[in-house]
Amino acid sequence: MEQYYVTTPIYYVNSTPHIGHAYTTVAADVFARHQRQRGRETFLLTGVDEHASKVARVAEEQGLAPQAYADRIVEAWRALPARLGVSNDFFIRTSDDGHKRFVQEFLTRIRDNGREDIYQDVYAGLYCVGCEAFKTEDELVDGKCPQHDVEPEWIEERNWFFRLSAYQERLLALYDERPDFVLPGFRANEARSFIAGGLQDFSISRAGQPWGIPIPWDPDQVAYVWADALVNYLSALTYARPGEDLIPRFWPVAHHLLAKDILRFHCVYWPALLLAAGYDVPRQLFVHGYLLLNDRKISKSLGNVVDPLDLIDVYGADAVRFWCARSVSFGQDGVASIDGLRERYERELGNDLGNLLSRVTAMVARYRQGTLAAVPSGDSEVAAIVAPLGDDVAARLDVFDLTGALERIWEVVRGLNRHVEVTAPWQVAKDEARSAELDRVLYDLVDGLRAVAVALAAYLPDTSGRILAALGQAQTLDWAEVAYGRARAAENVEPAAPLFPRVDEPTLAA
Ligand code: MSP
Repeated sequence: MEQYYVTTPIYYVNSTPHIGHAYTTVAADVFARHQRQRGRETFLLTGVDEHASKVARVAEEQGLAPQAYADRIVEAWRALPARLGVSNDFFIRTSDDGHKRFVQEFLTRIRDNGREDIYQDVYAGLYCVGCEAFKTEDELVDGKCPQHDVEPEWIEERNWFFRLSAYQERLLALYDERPDFVLPGFRANEARSFIAGGLQDFSISRAGQPWGIPIPWDPDQVAYVWADALVNYLSALTYARPGEDLIPRFWPVAHHLLAKDILRFHCVYWPALLLAAGYDVPRQLFVHGYLLLNDRKISKSLGNVVDPLDLIDVYGADAVRFWCARSVSFGQDGVASIDGLRERYERELGNDLGNLLSRVTAMVARYRQGTLAAVPSGDSEVAAIVAPLGDDVAARLDVFDLTGALERIWEVVRGLNRHVEVTAPWQVAKDEARSAELDRVLYDLVDGLRAVAVALAAYLPDTSGRILAALGQAQTLDWAEVAYGRARAAENVEPAAPLFPRVDEPTLAA
């Protein structure tokens, strides 16, 4: 069996989950669910990054040990995938013993690789705690980190360094040999030019900090948070299933999703660290843009946080998932708004999809007393619309075209709505002589909607199941079911309750 491994970044446990985090998490879930439908053994990983220096600072302010503080705030992060209906196979915490042990082994492997890739030196420089990264003067705007609007701190200490500079040639060769290593292409170019511009060694340890993973050969230092966090993609596989090492199965078939803010760490540092430790580089990285709300990056420091859980309370997880996938072309930056969510909820989910189901089930109930005859015709208009759907959607999702694949499914939803109007079953039902035709029309509509429900299962898992149930169809989600003529005969089909009932406008900050 073929394997597929997909990851989100692990989110800083001390930040507040917002719609931007939900965005990557939903996207990863769509890819994972889709690959499972294609019969691939799939592993979806998400989780939290706990060893940021800010965690220790805030814990101290609150009079708590860092671990106790992290244990408390992690719950908001566990709730995010759970409430979004995300099918993650594991939730990693970088404070897990299994992760800590693996990071120590990983760093030791680099140190022992015979090339002196880890060495000691003194580091002095400006450090932004928000980014957990050193900054050069020219990266600052008015002396401040433009992302966090704070002045970086001057740090000077003896650290362990990773010889990133030694990996320039190998990384360039990697990008040249594998044009789809990083997608979209313009992000690959960005990473490649950064590498071509010359790589500087970076410090992988911090002195004088109690919170972090001790450097095994120098326990007075802890691993730099990024040297710790990136390794999660590998470490999780070693202990997610007790007693089982999943690395041979799921590495290197990894697909990392991330936004452009952490491109360098993932597209440059991570492959170099892996090569140094003697591991293969991941199969692919997809770098998406920022989801902006009212033209601004969504972040707590800028004060326009929208809690995704609030949106789920009002609209439901599937509607939030739909909005994430549909509002902005995945890969690009784009603006989403709460008004847009409401609008899509009513027009696309409520009308295009929900009303279609209501109409089709009501007609089967009314004209056929709830009994659907299995009479596929083979060459109907619905057969023609549905035939290319499976391949088209799969091809798009294979290249992470989250938005394009959903639009392709929506074309079929619109096509089925048109088909209802064109065939006008209410007219056909008036004429006893057209009884066989009515059976065929109803079958086609049910079957088309069934195929759509299977295709949508990765995006709208709950809705998909409800559609299949309302149509009296099996909950079979194999990708082969995204084809014409798979609907089975059904009894007792009743007019379906609205899939997306009207909601009262809540008081949400927009
Ligand atoms: N802890 C690091 C990642 C370590 S991965 C080994 C980190 N965490 S974070 O909490 O800041 O999350 C960053 C990620 O959150 C982004 O790469 C992206 O996936 C997601 N997003 C955060 N804000 C976002 C938007 N406004 N829009 C889209 N995605 C956003 O960096």
